[in-house]
Amino acid sequence: MELFSEERSAHVVAESFAGTADPRLRDVLTALVRHLHAFVRETELTEEEWCAGIDFLTRTGQKCDAARQEFVLLSDVLGVSMLVETINHRSGGTSTESTVLGPFHMVESPPRELGENIALDSKGEPCLVTGQVKGPDGEPLAGALVDVWQANADGFYDVQQPGVQPELNLRGLFTSDEDGRFWFRTIVPRYCPIPDDGPVGELLAATGRHPYRPAHMHFIVTAPGYRPVTTHLFVDDSPYLDSDAVFGVKESLIRRFALVDHEARAAEAGLPNPFRTVHFDVALLRAAHAGGSLD
Ligand SMILES: [Fe+2]
Repeated sequence: MELFSEERSAHVVAESFAGTADPRLRDVLTALVRHLHAFVRETELTEEEWCAGIDFLTRTGQKCDAARQEFVLLSDVLGVSMLVETINHRSGGTSTESTVLGPFHMVESPPRELGENIALDSKGEPCLVTGQVKGPDGEPLAGALVDVWQANADGFYDVQQPGVQPELNLRGLFTSDEDGRFWFRTIVPRYCPIPDDGPVGELLAATGRHPYRPAHMHFIVTAPGYRPVTTHLFVDDSPYLDSDAVFGVKESLIRRFALVDHEARAAEAGLPNPFRTVHFDVALLRAAHAGGSLD
């Protein structure tokens, strides 16, 4: 084996992986070492800085438990989650764009009837959400599953406020009708902070970054034979659309939540007057058109 040297360090370490049985594992580890060594070389990392980095990663791991994933958060604020998501779900502009899953899909959304109100405590600005699930040729997809979850009017998810919000507040699993349409009642979500009381919060503070995400609703839409999409619907008048802490905003996912002040329409929607409304069509690719992937 070639002995270690500053100039050839990455090559020497990569050579140690030559016997890796899984070729993909060997390629990924080799690239990782190449970039890590280039990073150390470029920054000429001091021993104190190396120790600080190890300490940061140690504390990041120690912060993780069943309800908190600090490493995912770290990946999010460094833009790695969005890059992985974007690379793996290139849509070619023919399907609804995807964005990060986020850390709050930890409970299953309860199946609900079309039109039901997912705001179990009815706190916040009432809102009617309508949309249609379609395939790439515009064909309506009946029986598509539309999984929705969102923060409340204070910017918190139900799982962040047990005992304050009703269980399964602002979550619902809807099935589209024969025309692929779905609709439900909710409240307008507020912008919300990512958890910033751990090492990732320290990183944000040290770099002068805020922890906020713009107001959004989460969607996972699935239909048999089509490629699922995990995405958000962003509220167009929310702060932080141009500085999302996890880089999740895509222009095509921003919608106006129009104010409707009309007694008859409010009565028809089953909401108090006035209310807000938004329309969000979701286009899915055929599974066969997704590069052979059936995920
Ligand atoms: Fe979220």
